[in-house]
Amino acid sequence: MAGMILNFVPLSGNNLAAEITGQIRHMLETGSLNRGDKLPSTRVLARDLDVARGTVVAALDTLIAEGFLVTRRGSGTYVSEACIPVAPQTAIRKQTPSWLFSIEPDLDQGAAGALNFQVCRPSLVAFPQNAWRRAAADAASRLPSADYGDPQGELELRIAIAAYLCRGRGLDVNADEIIITNGAVQAMHIISRLYLDRDSAVAFEDPGYPLARQTFGMTGASILPIPIDEDGLRVDQLPGDAKRVKFVYVTPSHQFPTGERLSLSRRQELLEWATQNDVLILEDDYDGEFRYDVAPLPPLAAMSTNGFVVYFGTFSKTMFPSLRIGFAVGPKQLIKEMAACRAVSDYQTNSLTQLALTSFIENGEFEKHVHRMRRLYAKKRKRLREVMNETNLAGDLTGTDSGLNALIRLRTDISATQISLRSRLRGIEVTPISRFAKGASVQDNALVLGYGALSEDEIEHGVSTLAAVIDEAI
Ligand SMILES: Cc1ncc(COP(=O)(O)O)c(C=O)c1O
Repeated sequence: MAGMILNFVPLSGNNLAAEITGQIRHMLETGSLNRGDKLPSTRVLARDLDVARGTVVAALDTLIAEGFLVTRRGSGTYVSEACIPVAPQTAIRKQTPSWLFSIEPDLDQGAAGALNFQVCRPSLVAFPQNAWRRAAADAASRLPSADYGDPQGELELRIAIAAYLCRGRGLDVNADEIIITNGAVQAMHIISRLYLDRDSAVAFEDPGYPLARQTFGMTGASILPIPIDEDGLRVDQLPGDAKRVKFVYVTPSHQFPTGERLSLSRRQELLEWATQNDVLILEDDYDGEFRYDVAPLPPLAAMSTNGFVVYFGTFSKTMFPSLRIGFAVGPKQLIKEMAACRAVSDYQTNSLTQLALTSFIENGEFEKHVHRMRRLYAKKRKRLREVMNETNLAGDLTGTDSGLNALIRLRTDISATQISLRSRLRGIEVTPISRFAKGASVQDNALVLGYGALSEDEIEHGVSTLAAVIDEAI
């Protein structure tokens, strides 16, 4: 078994061994390392951290002496089975369910002041502020209802979204097949709450979207990492005996984070597999609106004829993330159950925001904005490619058919974690693909770059610095 990939923050250099010891203790405390996990070899750790092997050995010896780690002859170093989380025990901690320690902490936001190629951030430079102000004023001018709103969402907004999905994504749905939520992830929480438990499992893209993985993991369900290739999810790797599997989660328009699209034949295979095994496909179309120079592929929800797909959409990229509006589309009965479940938690999404968005869509402003942004993101993507060529960056750009992120597959043996740590020291934040992976099957050989929110000048500066960092590291 290969060791796990550990995500260290750059060492400051005062006492390297103590810093490594401290960071591993923190990983044990936060649950990114668990009982029985195998650590990478001292040679790999020394290479990734750019320190002498003796320094790593000294750091691990301290943790072995403290009982957190154990060595197994000829096999490597493991987290001790007797290891308990080192966080202080409080009343809450004592009640913390064991599965909580198996979810990863959120990805960090990057160093302050750095030029951050953060994934999935839209640009707001061209946001139509005046049109949005008018839509918000229109919503605010209506007398609010004395009652709560509909837990399924305002009917007007569901009608507007249904019409948009038909025009924009070729999806033929009715308003009663839609539920409005506070973002797509909340819709995933609701459906998980309804159908998952400790005895169930979710087949999940690896690498994949951490928040969705955590959402499903929080129910106690097992997460089965399924590899992906240039055609998207490897349907042939889905389990043969799928009795426990309730969902298979996919991002077909733009696989998160590799950016590959699920090919048409794979879409068909996946639909067949789901039907045969009685498994629901969760189709996360998180940035299907931003497609460049390639023909559209139908969403799985449009290809399915038997209600085996639930489609998730969000306005976090097309509008802005803090709007907190997303939605799920599925069979009427399932959507009703989701609304009933929602009624016993936060009840509904804020009506004022829903009405403002309805007005913005109905006035045609939403689609005008999406078209403008598609052109703008296409220009940024072009600049990204040009700078990579101009600087002879030792990597290949992939995953650029759609979305706001791209992947640089490194043409070197040095790990992507190592490159990202070195670029951080030069003020550039890029994320190694391993941060999104769960299994050891994902090679740490690519960087994920979110370019949507950066200007062309920032892209130029960031990518040329990255090219220099890679050259120095080779
Ligand atoms: C893969 C993926 N799915 C869904 C979302 C949207 O989540 P939400 O609508 O909750 O903001 C994101 C946001 O970054 C994402 O990256």
